[in-house]
Amino acid sequence: MSDSYIQNLFAERIGGRQYGKATALYKFEKIKRARRAALAAHPGAEIIDMGVGEPDEMAFPEVVETLHEEARKPENRGYSDNGDAVLKQAAARYLDRVCGVKGINPDTEVIHSIGSKAALSILPTAFINPGDYVLMTTPGYPVSGTHAKYLGGLVHNLPLTEANNFLPDLDSVPAGVLPKAKALVINYPNNPTGASATPEFYAAVVAFAKKNNLVVISDAAYAALVYEGKPLSFLATPGAKDVGVELHSCSKSFNMTGWRCGFVAGNELIVKAYGDVKDNTDSGQFLAIQHAAAYGFDHPEITAQIAAKYSRRMDALVQTLRHAGFNARKPKGSFFLYVKAPKAAAQKNGQRIEFNTAEDVSQWLITETLISTVPWDDAGAYLRFSVTFVAKDPADEQRVLGEVAQRLADVKFEFK
Ligand SMILES: Cc1ncc(COP(=O)(O)O)c(C=O)c1O
Repeated sequence: MSDSYIQNLFAERIGGRQYGKATALYKFEKIKRARRAALAAHPGAEIIDMGVGEPDEMAFPEVVETLHEEARKPENRGYSDNGDAVLKQAAARYLDRVCGVKGINPDTEVIHSIGSKAALSILPTAFINPGDYVLMTTPGYPVSGTHAKYLGGLVHNLPLTEANNFLPDLDSVPAGVLPKAKALVINYPNNPTGASATPEFYAAVVAFAKKNNLVVISDAAYAALVYEGKPLSFLATPGAKDVGVELHSCSKSFNMTGWRCGFVAGNELIVKAYGDVKDNTDSGQFLAIQHAAAYGFDHPEITAQIAAKYSRRMDALVQTLRHAGFNARKPKGSFFLYVKAPKAAAQKNGQRIEFNTAEDVSQWLITETLISTVPWDDAGAYLRFSVTFVAKDPADEQRVLGEVAQRLADVKFEFK
């Protein structure tokens, strides 16, 4: 079939005339295909999905109930634009009570988001001119970098390595890049490494931002999912509000991924600019959803229960993987376990296979053991396991992990 004229109209930022013609497969598509192939080869077998990046459970009944009540109110029906006071005030209370961030002004320093992904896509528009740099961590969640590039900006990647506790080395930014950098995007607890930040790191980020005139975007999508102590907010750092904003989300903290709600808080000028661009992007999240989200932020014990479940699963997963030869260590938060990928696998039947990349390992695992993981080859070869695998209760979790142990029992992984 000859190309329709539409093929010639695509913008270069999404591939121009070549849009949709690339044959290279993206990582997540490869995983999907490998799963389909594994299922076809073993009809009826159970795929153990350790790759999922979202909660396995519904929102809590009281949150659903709040949505139900709020959805019936005529005053909630219309465009919400940049939102009413309910979520803004709950956000300020949440930051104070849960994260120890004092004095956030709900009127001027908070605006809701239709999920953090939406906020990460909107914020570059407020800052990035062609040729400006965004400093991103890699491996990581790439949305702000993608949008910066859509705008003619550039991305400088800061690798997250085990040697540096998966914190970026801020001093490594080349002198040629730093003056053109406008924003630094950080994300702790981190996807995919599971690493947490420290107060010292955040203090260094504030100093670095001030010295180099940078805006800091702290993506706190996993902030409240901590296994010990209190969540650590970037905004609790002295001076943080002078340089940046933090993005909180109901998705992972309240099992509300599909609801699409969160908030951006911090520096008044950045929040205002976010609101201005947002106002030209969407018409706000349904107020009933915002109000249900506010209920969540006022009930952080929900997140504590979710985190306790992940912590229990994480203990068991760490043990299972260590037994299988992986150097797994329990992270302090998030729901991700990031482990070094093996270099080879030897099976009892005498077969031995060598791997060049984490992607090779992940493909082999799904094909041979029907265990799905997410590979990362961005800064070393690692596999991401997630404790959001489907299991209906603690006994079922044990069953699933017992199954993982059994499927890996005949494999000797080599790491050198
Ligand atoms: C690091 C990170 N930031 C943001 C998001 C998106 O969160 P939301 O559902 O709030 O858009 C995700 C989702 O996986 C994530 O991993």
